[in-house]
Amino acid sequence: MIKYLGSKRVLVPLLLQTVERIRGACTVADLFSGTSRVGHALKRAGYRVLANDHNAYAETLARCYVQADRGAVHDDAAALLAELGRLRGRPGYFTETFCVRSRFFQPRNGERIDAIREAIARKGLEPELEAVVLVSLMEAADRVDSTTGVQMAYLKRWAPRASNDLVLRMPAVLPRAAAGKGRACGLDALEAARTLSADIAYLDPPYNQHSYRGNYHIWETLVRWDKPAVYGTACKRVDCRERSSPFNSRPRFKPAMAELIAAVRAPVIVLSFSNEGYMARAEIEDLLATRGHVAVIERDHPRYVGARIGIYNPRGEKVGRVSHLRNRERIYVCGDLRPDLAALGPPAAAGARRQPA
Ligand SMILES: C[S@@+](CC[C@H](N)C(=O)[O-])C[C@H]1O[C@@H](n2cnc3c(N)ncnc32)[C@H](O)[C@@H]1O
Repeated sequence: MIKYLGSKRVLVPLLLQTVERIRGACTVADLFSGTSRVGHALKRAGYRVLANDHNAYAETLARCYVQADRGAVHDDAAALLAELGRLRGRPGYFTETFCVRSRFFQPRNGERIDAIREAIARKGLEPELEAVVLVSLMEAADRVDSTTGVQMAYLKRWAPRASNDLVLRMPAVLPRAAAGKGRACGLDALEAARTLSADIAYLDPPYNQHSYRGNYHIWETLVRWDKPAVYGTACKRVDCRERSSPFNSRPRFKPAMAELIAAVRAPVIVLSFSNEGYMARAEIEDLLATRGHVAVIERDHPRYVGARIGIYNPRGEKVGRVSHLRNRERIYVCGDLRPDLAALGPPAAAGARRQPA
């Protein structure tokens, strides 16, 4: 899967254990799905997953990892990937924008990305099959990029992996879950909360001002293939300036969370949030308590790799000091939980609060 800020890679086993202790749940709605690695793990465990994210690249990841079923796409995808992997490079928009005007990829890899993406566009594939080959291309490109994991800047000196050849691999598409077919949506989280009903809603909102579309603008362009006008050293899409999320804004975050929590159509809410976010633990607990009992599980967690490497300006010069290398990740579980709270074990039970009268 792609490198992704805020990805719950390390927390997936704990999230899964938490969800499995909520009795009787079959369907989980993941309203901020990102890489879909949480939805993928839930689907593997047998849950029906409804995954949503407002960025097109994330919706495509969800269509591949949550909505597509292995039996329906595997053989066609394998044949297509073999064919696409043999194409010779042909410079186009991607090479010009991300290898010449900026230096995110070596030109010989950029030329192959151009050739493969144009071929996918020409084929007019059905959406789930197209999502599988697009995810294969996105992940192949991610393995040869020259960044610290976000696309706000490229490295001053080439990352060693950028010299490797681009290789298409088959994404780990799962068989259909026992509880039913999954679904990918590209809605705003508030709209998704109002329209998707499930047994559990999983919420993993952003926790700072950096928009995901800006951080991963190359994936947005690769998936949309709309060849947009770009600006700045990083060649970001112009719509990065126009489209914003209330969850990336300190003043808008709390009202948006309140609206979201009130709108969710699920009896249980599981929320991931770190101590670096815009709301403190007590504020979140008070908000969630409007929906039922609240339990909190806490884990110490290493910060993302970019934080460990340091802070650089667009010229690649080190400009700041990293203040800390670890944070506290919290999983809040909320709803009509009384019988399930005890089952969440000592750390959660210790953090459990009663719903206010
Ligand atoms: C912390 S990340 C989720 C990471 C994900 N759980 C994973 O493990 O990969 C937050 C996600 O919220 C999405 N997002 C931000 N604002 C949104 C909004 N208003 N509606 C829907 N999705 C939004 C971003 O695109 C991003 O993928």
